[in-house]
Amino acid sequence: MEDKNNITAFNTETLALVSRIIKRYPPGRQKSALLPVLHIAQSENNGWLSSEIMDYVATLLDLQPIEVYEVASFYSMFNLQPVGNCVIEVCQTGPCWLNGAEEIVAHYEARLGIKVGETTADGKFTLKTVECLAACGNGPVLQVGTEYHEHLTIQKADELLDKWQAENKISHTNPYL
Ligand code: FES
Repeated sequence: MEDKNNITAFNTETLALVSRIIKRYPPGRQKSALLPVLHIAQSENNGWLSSEIMDYVATLLDLQPIEVYEVASFYSMFNLQPVGNCVIEVCQTGPCWLNGAEEIVAHYEARLGIKVGETTADGKFTLKTVECLAACGNGPVLQVGTEYHEHLTIQKADELLDKWQAENKISHTNPYL
């Protein structure tokens, strides 16, 4: 039922967590739990949402699969393809871009040997650009999992990448545990 790359169901502990989240909402309003449950599903599935796990989430929340797909495909925080252990998301919206995000992205592309949207051959890093991360006054900004890093410079970007490489960073941790 479950392998390393693509789970098709939650274990007992995760099901209990999901059940507690669903109970936060009135009966019949279980769709309100969709975003947190998708975050949990993504974290349990190595950082991405397969159609199998989205169908499973639809069953758990008594929704049509399309209701899950349309939410998962709307937000850049959900990955619909396999990703590396550490997903680097650099803000590409105007204020950050004008303040140096373009150079940060180019620098990471050169250091990692990949283009935006790609994953390194060793499976450690995926590089993405995303729209506004809501820290516009502190740009350039990037997000890795639940961490924000602001006022980026090339030096700071290098230090972060060195740190993530040294610690084998995994960005898709379960935010509800
Ligand atoms: Fe980058 Fe808003 S423009 S955080």
